Amino acid sequence: MRIETPSLTLRPWERGDIDVLAEIANDRRIWANLRDRFPHPYTRADAEVWIEICERAPAPPCAFAIEVEGRAAGGISLEPFDDVHRRTAEIGYWLGAPFWGRGLATEAVVVMARYGFERLGLERIQAQVFSWNEASTRVLVKAGFAFEGRMRRHVVKDGKVGDALLYARVRDEAV
Ligand SMILES: CC(C)(COP(=O)(O)OP(=O)(O)OC[C@H]1O[C@@H](n2cnc3c(N)ncnc32)[C@H](O)[C@@H]1OP(=O)(O)O)[C@@H](O)C(=O)NCCC(=O)NCCS
Repeated sequence: MRIETPSLTLRPWERGDIDVLAEIANDRRIWANLRDRFPHPYTRADAEVWIEICERAPAPPCAFAIEVEGRAAGGISLEPFDDVHRRTAEIGYWLGAPFWGRGLATEAVVVMARYGFERLGLERIQAQVFSWNEASTRVLVKAGFAFEGRMRRHVVKDGKVGDALLYARVRDEAV
């Protein structure tokens, strides 16, 4: 499965990505904006574990590498909820720092949302952004997500308690 846009390709993580993944993901600025299950420091062993998880995941795929200029530059995923929320998924994404500021995350979120609605049958895609993460907030707004609320003191990250901002896009909403 490959999803192509003018600037990037979403494609499965591969064993050949292990070294580059360990290099670009090992960045405290990335970790500071993601859940703690994203490791820091990010070692080669962490990269191997992640790629094994992706290889074992059932189809259709929900996690992709973001490939830019022929190499893995970051990751994006849709994690479906369960039970009555099973047509909702949480979107998560990150890019290696050399790739920031070129509109790539926005482009990836737009095509991933389309994939989620059209191929995974989702009705709703949501994201929880830490309140200090203005770059990610911009990405979501540019990708057509609406602000739904501030979840006060929902986050403990890096020893600090903070708010999370809830953004969502539902099926058939235009970007
Ligand atoms: C968030 C992240 C994915 C953005 O990637 P990107 O490819 O640089 O994003 P884009 O270029 O598509 O858009 C970024 C927007 O944020 C803006 N921005 C960047 N840094 C900013 C800051 N400190 N304050 C306010 N706006 C900022 C940019 O100007 C741009 O908006 P514009 O197009 O209106 O000018 C990247 O910074 C990252 O990987 N961060 C760490 C992990 C993370 O935060 N993941 C998301 C968790 S919810």
